[in-house]
Amino acid sequence: MAEEIVITSEDKASKYEELLPQINALVTGETNATANLANIAAALHHTFHFFWTGFYLVDQNELILGPFQGPIACTRIAFGKGVCGSSWEQKQTLVVPNVHEFPGHIACSSDSNSEIVVPILDKNNEVQMIFDIDSAQFGTFNEVDKHYLEILAASISNWMNQWI
Ligand code: SME
Repeated sequence: MAEEIVITSEDKASKYEELLPQINALVTGETNATANLANIAAALHHTFHFFWTGFYLVDQNELILGPFQGPIACTRIAFGKGVCGSSWEQKQTLVVPNVHEFPGHIACSSDSNSEIVVPILDKNNEVQMIFDIDSAQFGTFNEVDKHYLEILAASISNWMNQWI
């Protein structure tokens, strides 16, 4: 695996363009899902200096906290609840510029002000986990984040078939 992530670009899209191949390299040769999800969360978190970056894994009728970077977080989220449970229910990415205006938003931290949640599907097209990123600023996430994080989500979905 690569030993460090090197990002030289200034703008967001170029950072993602540099980061995604490095994430690919990072997970190549490692088949443990927890290890790879932990490193993916770390790579994104430290590239963009997000407030919270991590995964929630589907377990029966709820999401359970998975590998993440940032402050401690809620451990369980019900189907349809909060931004994460809504993304799971709707099977689509949710970009929330102001979490305080999102009905039912679950505030794991009062310091989080905007959020993006991307579902990751299994081979049967069911949501198997969600990718959740929080920012301390309002309006951090836009179509650029959605575009690249959905590419990453599709890669993770493929990789998960080989990971244990
Ligand atoms: N805000 C999320 C809960 C998870 S934390 O942000 C880490 C939600 O409303 O689902």
